[in-house]
Amino acid sequence: MESKRRSCVSRCVHSGDTVHASAVVTLMLVVWCAQALEVSVGKVPFVEAMNGSTVLLPCTYSSCIGIKNLNFNWHYNNNGSMMKLCQGVIPTEVSEPRVQVFHERIEFVGSSKNNNISILLFNVTFEDEGEYTCFAKNPKEKDRNHSAIFTLYVVEELKVVDNTVTVIILSVVCGVIGLVIVVMVIKAVVLLFLKKSAEKNAGIRTDSSTATAAPL
Ligand SMILES: *[C@@H]1O[C@H](CO)[C@@H](O)[C@H](O)[C@H]1NC(C)=O
Ligand SMILES: *[C@@H]1O[C@H](CO)[C@@H](O)[C@H](O)[C@H]1NC(C)=O
Ligand SMILES: *[C@@H]1O[C@H](CO)[C@@H](O)[C@H](O)[C@H]1NC(C)=O
Ligand SMILES: *[C@@H]1O[C@H](CO)[C@@H](O)[C@H](O)[C@H]1NC(C)=O
Ligand SMILES: *[C@@H]1O[C@H](CO)[C@@H](O)[C@H](O)[C@H]1NC(C)=O
Repeated sequence: MESKRRSCVSRCVHSGDTVHASAVVTLMLVVWCAQALEVSVGKVPFVEAMNGSTVLLPCTYSSCIGIKNLNFNWHYNNNGSMMKLCQGVIPTEVSEPRVQVFHERIEFVGSSKNNNISILLFNVTFEDEGEYTCFAKNPKEKDRNHSAIFTLYVVEELKVVDNTVTVIILSVVCGVIGLVIVVMVIKAVVLLFLKKSAEKNAGIRTDSSTATAAPL
């Protein structure tokens, strides 16, 4: 009798805990899944590349509710008009993307293994500079669009020269400022000395004048 009641109590408490725990888990999932699909181009959303080099335009996705027929594409913002560079579909989480590429110098290098939908741009030209947008859309969540922008800056080979010029300019400016400070300090010291010696001279003169005035 006694043991029966106890077991019921423990069972009730236990089921209460389970309900509680599952509520917490659901709440956590709701909070966590506020952004079901996320698209990211990484912590540094830009890169500087030399003309003629090959550059990686990174993009990854993540989804806590899972993906199904995830649509993605890359667009280049060609002075306001969006130019589609490639598009693809990822049927399930474990299948590799099916990709179409519309640009002769672009290669898709992503993989479903690491949620990677990055592309490579070969033989970068100065005209390639600008904003590259990685779009993704998960039909599981009402076809909401998600995107991230990666900016490419194309620089000439001798980027180091720019730094050297900056360093030269900076050191010249610092040198000039330093020189001005040194000159001002010297001037102040000289003025102080002049003032001191002038006071001393004046003091001697007044002494001598009083001395000469005394006998009169
Ligand atoms: C990069 O551009 C500069 C200036 O236009 C040019 O002299 C150089 O050959 C280019 N480098 C490559 C690798 O295309
Ligand atoms: C971009 O578009 C603006 C206005 O449409 C135009 O004035 C400008 O020359 C264009 N720039 C390039 C690089 O095509
Ligand atoms: C990049 O340039 C090199 C040398 O100019 C050329 O052999 C290669 O085919 C180019 N690659 C692409 C993808 O255009
Ligand atoms: C995506 O894949 C490319 C090519 O394999 C790789 O260079 C890059 O580091 C990957 N990015 C991430 C975030 O895994
Ligand atoms: C959402 O994605 C679709 C398909 O890629 C595209 O046609 C549409 O313009 C996008 N909408 C916005 C607001 O970017």
